[in-house]
Amino acid sequence: MRRVVMKKVSVLIKEAVEKAFVSLGYDKKYGMVGISNRPDLCQYQCNGAMAAAKEFKKAPLFIADEVADKLQLSEEGKIFEKIEAVNPGFINLTLKDEFLADYVNEMGETGNFGYENGGEPKKIVLDYGGPNVAKPLHVGHLRPAIIGESIKRIERFAGNEVIGDVHLGDWGLPMGLIITEVRHRHPELPYFDESFTGEYPKEAPFTIEELEEIYPLASIKSKEDEEYKNEALQATALLQNGNRGYMALWHHILDVSVTDLKKNYHNINVSFDLWKKESDVQVYIPDMVEKMKADGFAYISEGALVVDVTKEDDKKEIPPCIILKSDGAALYSTTDVATILERVKLFNPTDIIYVVDKRQGMHFEQVFRTVKKTGIAPEELNLIFLGFGTMNGKDGKPFKTREGGVMRLERLISEITEEVEAKMSDRDMDEEVKHKVAKQVGLAALKYGDLSNQASKDYVFDLERFTSFEGNTGPYIQYTVVRIRSILDKFIAEKSLNKADLDNFFADIKLVKAATASERELELVLAKFSDMIDLAATEFAPHKVCAYIYEVSNCFSAFYHENHILNEQDEARKYSMLKLSYITEKIIVKCLDLLGIEAPERM
Ligand code: ARG
Repeated sequence: MRRVVMKKVSVLIKEAVEKAFVSLGYDKKYGMVGISNRPDLCQYQCNGAMAAAKEFKKAPLFIADEVADKLQLSEEGKIFEKIEAVNPGFINLTLKDEFLADYVNEMGETGNFGYENGGEPKKIVLDYGGPNVAKPLHVGHLRPAIIGESIKRIERFAGNEVIGDVHLGDWGLPMGLIITEVRHRHPELPYFDESFTGEYPKEAPFTIEELEEIYPLASIKSKEDEEYKNEALQATALLQNGNRGYMALWHHILDVSVTDLKKNYHNINVSFDLWKKESDVQVYIPDMVEKMKADGFAYISEGALVVDVTKEDDKKEIPPCIILKSDGAALYSTTDVATILERVKLFNPTDIIYVVDKRQGMHFEQVFRTVKKTGIAPEELNLIFLGFGTMNGKDGKPFKTREGGVMRLERLISEITEEVEAKMSDRDMDEEVKHKVAKQVGLAALKYGDLSNQASKDYVFDLERFTSFEGNTGPYIQYTVVRIRSILDKFIAEKSLNKADLDNFFADIKLVKAATASERELELVLAKFSDMIDLAATEFAPHKVCAYIYEVSNCFSAFYHENHILNEQDEARKYSMLKLSYITEKIIVKCLDLLGIEAPERM
């Protein structure tokens, strides 16, 4: 694939219009161009003449006319078929069909579809996933995993460096609770012996199933039994102070848990570059605390060590950030502050982005302010909290199982797969293949259903709607790909080609200008690809990718119905339409990949 820098269509248009304004003595800023809100009249539209009219005390239509004429005569204006000044002062723009065809043709022949990041590449640490040791993944972990994975892929595609970190929760009271429960069950284990040397047996004293049973039980017990709770608190403190036996036990908990978590994330196609954990930053805490005290930032308030993070113009109250509890224990805020210290030290990133439940917004506000105030984070480091909303059931409350319990991720996925498999019952497919496809489609339903909403909003999980093969759903988009592939397969058979030959075959074909409205529409939306990527990357917004492929899919569907691609008699047109379909398929597949969704061969 060639790598050619292609200017974005919006940029080409803007530059042409700006130049016309400037050559008439108006400021460049009036050359702003947007997508038309009257697609029946034009494709793009400039409203700058209205603003210029105010400054220059002229009639807006007069200026629009002047600019339109100038543009018409300019070299850059040659990309337009129609340039019209209309009342009260709009400039309506429509691109030439030849230009669109050439542009999309070029996109198809370049790696990355002509996308190029204009700015300095960022170095991003992306904190997503956030599972906790010894707790199974449940629906609450779905959103940070899916959204984070997609943001990672989008940012990488846009040319930024991304280090994805799972930031495992492994260091608080839950560990003490598990250790306490294990101690009650198996007091004979060597870990509780004072003389324990630290050599721990390979075999863990529990399986993941037992571990997942132990934790919730211990948690309930600690709420009902004061003595039990104190034991757990003590165990937590001993662990944090490095007790050998407890450390060995904690390693077991970690091993068993991480193996299971990795399996589960793998199952949904989510992966991390780093498996760092809260406990990794324990080593930084003593010095960090001393420095905060010495610099006068940290002080004792009601027994705890805190940093005041209020600012003069605060509209709401921001409580101080607690660094150490009165018993000297580290908290969630302590590890998050120390984690930023470590990330700066290890990676010196430009941005740290957190994909975490939006209900943790205040926690991160306190943490961010603390690291900036104390100088732990450099002034220029961007700390970004991307808080996501809740996945609700149809009752508007956080999604639960039918029995009212917390839904495990594994179960949710198998329920969706079953639903899709039932829908595919009439397909003539090998059972094993069908099951594999059903899983791909089920995952797409789940991920797309989630990602197509703005992340910060709550949404309702609707199994029926998400798994539908029609409408704004993952399966519908996958189906568009499958449909294009089947057209191409027929063509391959007709020409006795191999799939692998398609690239070469189309390299010799050039798109001819659109002959139908639906073809033009499809090319127009494909040409907006780079603009969409820029937006999705700067706003960390997978939903922009979803909206885009939904539009592409709808345009393709209209194109497919309006044109008889394979029966077209004019060979140049037939090949051109096939190539357009081929490019469409590649772009949708790329976008699906950016969402962490696979496209099946058949469905
Ligand atoms: N484990 C945390 C939880 O379950 C989420 C971690 C998010 N990341 C972070 N750096 N705090 O709430």
